[in-house]
Amino acid sequence: MKKSILIFVAGVTTPILFAWLFICVGGMPVATKSPPLPFERYLAKTALHAALRSEVNKAAPLAADEINLREGARIYTQNCAGCHGFSNAGESAMAKGMFPPPPQLLPPNDGVTDDPVGETYWKVKNGIRLTGMPGFSDSLTGKQLWQVSLFLAHVNQLPPGVLESVKP
Ligand code: HEC
Repeated sequence: MKKSILIFVAGVTTPILFAWLFICVGGMPVATKSPPLPFERYLAKTALHAALRSEVNKAAPLAADEINLREGARIYTQNCAGCHGFSNAGESAMAKGMFPPPPQLLPPNDGVTDDPVGETYWKVKNGIRLTGMPGFSDSLTGKQLWQVSLFLAHVNQLPPGVLESVKP
């Protein structure tokens, strides 16, 4: 009986001890250029999707009309383009040095999102911990959060001139 308890305790503590040693000897990737751990991306994405599941299907309380899309483009230029880029332009110096990298969200870049607008709204409002994606709940109003989310959700079907208004 005593022996089985000892084996159980050793079985539980040994992996914890190894994980602690791994961190202490510098095994955890901390530099943005370090290769990710196996499963690191999977764990981060799974945690994120579990957290925002309840909000994903929220419909926007604003219409995707020209006024809101233009305002969304203006908000994007001021707050987001430094990381998520401009149309027909390469990654910014900041974006090149980040891990995970900020997707380049404007066409023709391949980071254009097909997420539902409620999911984008959640990410812009709350940010994504440990990634460099800031939460904007203290700096943009609720209306502005929806306007920039609508802009990203419709970035492939904008009224003429709106995409072109996003420039450095
Ligand atoms: C300082 C850099 C930075 C700024 C500024 C920034 N973001 Fe991000 N953003 C990121 C990073 C990094 C990610 C990737 C996070 C990940 O991989 O989970 C991200 C992810 C996202 C995503 C998820 C994309 C996807 O396909 O999963 C959306 C949407 C987004 N940002 C929108 C915005 C909006 C809108 C703004 C401005 C209001 C903004 N971001 C400002 C760095 C930034």
